[in-house]
Amino acid sequence: MKLALINIKQLVTVASGGNRVKTGADMSSLATIENAAVLVENERITWTGRMEDLSMGSLGETDVLDCLDRVVMPGFIDPHTHLVFAGSREEEFSMRSAGLSYREIAQRGGGILSTVRKVRDTPKKELKKSARRWISAMLQHGTTTVEIKSGYGLDTDSEIKLLETIRELDKEEVMTVVSTFLGAHAVPPEFQENKTGYVELVVNHMLPYIGSKKLAVFCDVFCETGFFDADESRSILLQGKQFGLQPKIHAEQLSALGGAELAAEVGAVSADHLENVTDAGVAALAGAGTVAVLLPGVSFFLNIPYAPARKLIDAGVPVALATDFNPGTCMTYSMPLMMTTACTQMMMSPEEAITASTLNAAAAIGLSGERGSIEPGKKADLVVLDIPDYRYLPYHFGVNHVEKVVKDGVALEF
Ligand code: NIG
Ligand code: FE
Repeated sequence: MKLALINIKQLVTVASGGNRVKTGADMSSLATIENAAVLVENERITWTGRMEDLSMGSLGETDVLDCLDRVVMPGFIDPHTHLVFAGSREEEFSMRSAGLSYREIAQRGGGILSTVRKVRDTPKKELKKSARRWISAMLQHGTTTVEIKSGYGLDTDSEIKLLETIRELDKEEVMTVVSTFLGAHAVPPEFQENKTGYVELVVNHMLPYIGSKKLAVFCDVFCETGFFDADESRSILLQGKQFGLQPKIHAEQLSALGGAELAAEVGAVSADHLENVTDAGVAALAGAGTVAVLLPGVSFFLNIPYAPARKLIDAGVPVALATDFNPGTCMTYSMPLMMTTACTQMMMSPEEAITASTLNAAAAIGLSGERGSIEPGKKADLVVLDIPDYRYLPYHFGVNHVEKVVKDGVALEF
């Protein structure tokens, strides 16, 4: 099956020349081609170049997608979400506008544990139905790959229910779905007086089962005051590694606990959040090559500080963006909105924001060899945007500019 995308006004390839990520000044190089075309065969990109170098006569049996002078870029990659959940938490949103903090709401029984109660009572079929709805909306907003975490079950059966749901979504939906086990997202109600007992359950029971059934690629931990400290996080991440799960970490979101240093120590693929990362934490991430996944939507939604994106980029840490889509701290799946917030609040350039939402986001989930840029050999995940120039994408915010999505070489119909 062959596809040719023609008449592309501006092709943003984010070409990496075989590199896993872009860092420093390289994050600003998008490798654009004006008046371009892309050829695809059997799900993969075979050629990119200028229209004038494409001989239409030699295409043979090829479907043609006329891009009508639009901008084309790689499908967005959202490397951090919690999108399998039940219910919604708009009452907490009202409480926050009245001045309560995320932590205060959690201490009153809201927060993560309120979603846990609902997820435990919801059958897999229902969870999948609502997740499908989110996934379809994400595709329409240009996201072609998503990472999804468990962590709203917090008992063995419910965590397995979430991970099986995520696995089935990957098989059944056109979206590429990557699964992360986040059993240490919060201490469940039945272990409130015995956190050690819960950590032991995760380490000795959940991880061996999940590892043996290959139910997740990554293991994540919420390393935070009142949740899991650095030692507890370390023991969980190291055990995850033993069972073939690569480490990720929710680090320094509400306080600085040394999560960034821990990420470097255990060789984490990514350290996520980092709103309160210290200079030592930044240096540790730079030394380890860990991807910093920044979540500006959370800072916007909770009215908390933004991660120091400039400091991280200038130190050579590969920076990615994600939505963190979840009912508590970021109720959106729009990657372009993350780009806008990254530019206006974290002083990233549009070029850096696009690199962070494509190639570097793919690297944050170990997929940048396959996806995240428009280069021969890579899977053909592309978005056609009704905008005059790539900088227009973060500039004109709060609306959807996606006109067409090509996923694994197939133009999707919405
Ligand atoms: O990434 N930080 C921890 N977990 C989520 C919040 C989940 C929730 O509030 O339901 C986050 O922000
Ligand atoms: Fe998160």
